[in-house]
Amino acid sequence: MTQARLTVEDLTVRYGALQAVRDISATFQPDSIVGLIGPNGAGKTTLLNALSGFTDITSGRVRLGERDITRLSGQARVALGIVRSFQTVRLLEDESVFLNVALGCERNPQPTVVEQIFSLPRQWRARRRDLAATYQILDTLGLSEFAGRAVAELPYATRRLVELARILVVHPEVVLLDEPAAGSDRAERDLMGRTLRQLHAREPFTMIVVEHDVDVVRKLCSYAIALDSGAMIASGEPDVVLENDRVQEAYFGVGHRA
Ligand SMILES: Nc1ncnc2c1ncn2[C@@H]1O[C@H](COP(=O)(O)OP(=O)(O)OP(=O)(O)O)[C@@H](O)[C@H]1O
Ligand SMILES: [Mg+2]
Repeated sequence: MTQARLTVEDLTVRYGALQAVRDISATFQPDSIVGLIGPNGAGKTTLLNALSGFTDITSGRVRLGERDITRLSGQARVALGIVRSFQTVRLLEDESVFLNVALGCERNPQPTVVEQIFSLPRQWRARRRDLAATYQILDTLGLSEFAGRAVAELPYATRRLVELARILVVHPEVVLLDEPAAGSDRAERDLMGRTLRQLHAREPFTMIVVEHDVDVVRKLCSYAIALDSGAMIASGEPDVVLENDRVQEAYFGVGHRA
């Protein structure tokens, strides 16, 4: 059980004249799975960027619990347990699955140089912790058999799982996933949805996931937020949000039902 209640208040992100995110207020309950939906250019990635500290916020606040994290860097937010993935795969393609995932541990508190010189046992404990965590997450995600393989040799859907392992190896409190199944086929999307649900059931964390597939959103998420042109047009139970007239209109045009 995590304690991290992430909130945004009147959040706006402007790029020149464009308001990519406009005046959004929302609370992400601890351990919930929130689906972020909306047509292309709606502001979904920009909102994740604002939550993870990857873009400057024009106005408004981001809080984790009572703490105001609006001005914290992405790195400082990682240290608080907020991690993210990107819309496209970002891995060291020529390196092994094991190394890619183990490198995710760099986000854990590491021994300082002084500690490294004067306190070897402590350094070894940190290394042992990171290696154990790497083996464990590879096992959980069914990736152990690929541990020694170069990422570039693996099918796309497996690479997306490697990316997930790299993020989750630090046992984060808040996980922001930008279209984790983008570029995958129907079966791979379902598998990603099931995998995320199982991981979350095993060890809960707050998950905010951008996902276009309405079936995955229905099955995976406990809450949904719909964006259009940077604004929040609906929020609540996924079934209700997906049936909302404005959401239907934004996705399918006036008069069309899914
Ligand atoms: N760094 C940037 N500079 C200028 N404009 C940007 C920048 N990033 C995003 N935008 C614009 O902000 C708007 C929202 O983009 P964003 O990427 O957040 O949408 P999205 O909902 O993630 O779309 P998609 O489903 O295509 O990924 C778009 O009009 C986009 O062109
Ligand atoms: Mg996007």
